[in-house]
Amino acid sequence: MFKNINPSGTVAWHNLRKHFEEMEYVKMQDLFESQVDRVDKMHVSWNDFLFDFSKNKITDKTVELLLDLAREMELSTAIESMFKGDKINVTEGRAVLHTALRDFSGQPILVDGINVVDEISRVRECLKNFSDAFTDGTYKGSTGKAFTDVINIGIGGSDLGPRMVVNALESYRNDIGVHFISNVDDDHIVSLLSKLDPETTLVIVVSKTFTTQETILNAQTVKRWLVEGINSVNCAAHFVAVSSNIEQAEGFGIAKENIFPMWDYVGGRFSLWSAVGLSISLAVGYDHFERLLKGANQMDQHLRTAPLEENIPVIMAMLSIWYNNFYGYQTEALVPYCQFLEKFPAHLQQMIMESNGKNRNREGYPVNYQTGTIIWGEVGVNAQHAFFQLFHQGTKIIPVDFIGFVKPYSTQRENHDVLMSNFFGQTEALLNGKVGAKYQTASSDDRLQPYKEFGGNKPTNTFLIEQLTPENLGSLIAMYEHKVFVQGFIWNIFSFDQFGVEYGKKLACSIQSELERGEINNHDGSTQFLLEYYLSKR
Ligand code: F6P
Repeated sequence: MFKNINPSGTVAWHNLRKHFEEMEYVKMQDLFESQVDRVDKMHVSWNDFLFDFSKNKITDKTVELLLDLAREMELSTAIESMFKGDKINVTEGRAVLHTALRDFSGQPILVDGINVVDEISRVRECLKNFSDAFTDGTYKGSTGKAFTDVINIGIGGSDLGPRMVVNALESYRNDIGVHFISNVDDDHIVSLLSKLDPETTLVIVVSKTFTTQETILNAQTVKRWLVEGINSVNCAAHFVAVSSNIEQAEGFGIAKENIFPMWDYVGGRFSLWSAVGLSISLAVGYDHFERLLKGANQMDQHLRTAPLEENIPVIMAMLSIWYNNFYGYQTEALVPYCQFLEKFPAHLQQMIMESNGKNRNREGYPVNYQTGTIIWGEVGVNAQHAFFQLFHQGTKIIPVDFIGFVKPYSTQRENHDVLMSNFFGQTEALLNGKVGAKYQTASSDDRLQPYKEFGGNKPTNTFLIEQLTPENLGSLIAMYEHKVFVQGFIWNIFSFDQFGVEYGKKLACSIQSELERGEINNHDGSTQFLLEYYLSKR
């Protein structure tokens, strides 16, 4: 399994420290002036992707040293270990094989001596058959009507991934209405159900564990609505589950033939490629879903085979380490210039922060360096009118990933050019800033000059992608998944468990029973005060 190597004790880390002393106050504007071939060296062209990382606080030497760190940590061995199905999720004793879900090579992948590829292919076939029957109307509801709507009930990885992809592939959508219920917010659920017809609505309950309180509660609420609406308890055709807990799903009343399995070697936040993606397949058709998987697989091959110098997820991860652990920048942002990627930041928040928000190394001791990037973002250009002020003139430095597409689906070239002009203009402004007399006009008021200056030198990555096709979306998501993996590996932490979210869940359960009893137990002063207030007012 992975060795326990403290990255901060490596020779490469020491060299990066020394190098950082030379780099700390270097301006990117000067780096561009002094290195004419900078962009040539600092970009990667891969499939439909152009990744320009030249607008970063780095020189060739920085890249060399960062990749030395990756080598000294033995990253390439770790990558192979993941793909081979080794149990790299040590704390849960599991393999990490979301990559196997999008592997069509037929090469065996063994977990505990069993070839998981066979079962994955079988379930893909079931997904295809179900999706085809659903979209062509041969799979009908219990009153004989074809379905018009789908509700996906799940939370976290059982919601964010499929919800994001269904939105992102808007240009490939059929006319099935696909809706998502994740929160236990009755007002939202009632409002959604009031617009749907139970006779033509299919419900997919997605829960790997089938024990997540919010999901089960929401599934029960919707089940009551279905039973009442159809006027029959026979609503089996309306319910499908995706879970690794088949027994519990059956116990809930879902017919065995309508349960799609999940496996413990796929973490919730990496599961949209499995049957968790059923809502995607229903929304865009199985063939497009498969194209998404194939795009992700291409990125998998890229991670596995590209030399580190041209390896996009590796470069992204190492740049992020450079800013986190040497410059001490606390957060990173992501701005896709595409409305359909509105949900992408939320998906990445779970993927990145649930994976790498860890403070123990691979031997259980506290780490002595920063881990876990805070990621946030919003679509451009909306974000420009919201928080870009802080990017340009705030006291904090926030490295930003800009994601844009060369070709829109619409024929409105003019709108797209405006969108993309903003995309390019912002990265240019963040790099160069606007300082000094050359920008002053005769009419400008000198006293206002300090407020109108901005220093630039703000790092950005630019991803210019041909078009938001299913393949490119698959590659894009997988690119960030691998960034997370590489970063967690270098930080010497375990990226694939999520014990941190368990404790709060336990407390919520015991508070819920206190509320039911109307009796508040001993809590800390503040929680006690708040609970008593809530109880007296509700
Ligand atoms: O919030 C923790 C978590 O376990 C996530 O990792 C997971 O995606 C989510 O809850 C939902 O879990 P499940 O699919 O088991 O309902």
